[in-house]
Amino acid sequence: MHQPDRVSLREVAPRDGLQNEPPVPTADKIRLIDALSRTGLSRIEAVSFVSPKAVPQMADAAEVWKAVEKHSGIRYSALAPNRRGVERALEAGFTAVEVVVSASETHNRANIGRSVAESLAELPDICGLAREHLASVEVIIATSFGCPFEGDIAPAKVARIVEAAEAAGAGRVAFGDTTGMGTPRRVTELLDAVDTALPMLMHFHDTRGTALANLLTALDRGVVEFDASVGGIGGCPFAPGASGNVATEEVVHMLHDMGVETGVDLEALIRTAELAQEIVGRPLESGVLRAGPRTRLTPKP
Ligand code: COA
Ligand code: ZN
Repeated sequence: MHQPDRVSLREVAPRDGLQNEPPVPTADKIRLIDALSRTGLSRIEAVSFVSPKAVPQMADAAEVWKAVEKHSGIRYSALAPNRRGVERALEAGFTAVEVVVSASETHNRANIGRSVAESLAELPDICGLAREHLASVEVIIATSFGCPFEGDIAPAKVARIVEAAEAAGAGRVAFGDTTGMGTPRRVTELLDAVDTALPMLMHFHDTRGTALANLLTALDRGVVEFDASVGGIGGCPFAPGASGNVATEEVVHMLHDMGVETGVDLEALIRTAELAQEIVGRPLESGVLRAGPRTRLTPKP
């Protein structure tokens, strides 16, 4: 199996995780991001600038961003669904934005309230605006591996969105497995179909237990950037059945044992997963959070 020396993880619990939980206090969001900033993670998706009517959980995004500690070695980013969201992110001072569009027409309508073509038509303007602010734009293609409404998504359809993103001036693309419909086979088929010079990132949800297998498949194909969420929280409020992202501590635990570096301190990450669990107020499903790392031994009987 092809194996890189290092992968880059982007932590998405403050956005993907907290958007899918009952609203938590602003102070807890700040506490979570600050704790994540001290784990060695180099990328954190901090907030989203979306309609507060659609996602009340993110209504305090600017306030959260203003208050968090900004570490110089960390690339913080914000997600936006449209130009208005990108404007708000840039006004708040973000220099990295992620614009989300779905490969599925039905999910794009449910999530963003418009067609895929309408979303794509706005991209050149958004990229131009970001460029004026010296900010980078990543296009996140949601439902890349399947849609809860439409079922299978043809990889060629995803490939066409990648082409549109590249033509519009985006700097990178991400493939979102919004409801965990990906499998190693689907990851392979998608990577076979996509032809781009842009850096690619994969965003897996573990809804059906395939997230780590998907990640290894992508790794073998040369992908070295992944999203993950501490404690495995996450989900899209506009995709029925969506559940948690692959847990960051499970990814770090597995990669470090394989000799793949992430820069993350696993013990600090597990403590942060405990904090996430305390904040959302329910037991989280992450196996490494529950059982501890494989190096944590039980006293001999
Ligand atoms: N941030 C804040 N407010 C926004 C906004 C943004 N990015 N984009 C639009 N709005 C406001 C409009 O100004 C308008 O306000 P008003 O009612 O006070 O006039 C209102 O939201 C409705 O806007 P409209 O253009 O009619 O769109 P809509 O109601 O169909 O909503 C979105 C479209 C994109 C704003 C909404 O669907 C959304 O925020 N989706 C994000 C979903 C999400 O976060 N999913 C999970 C992450 S992938
Ligand atoms: Zn997600």
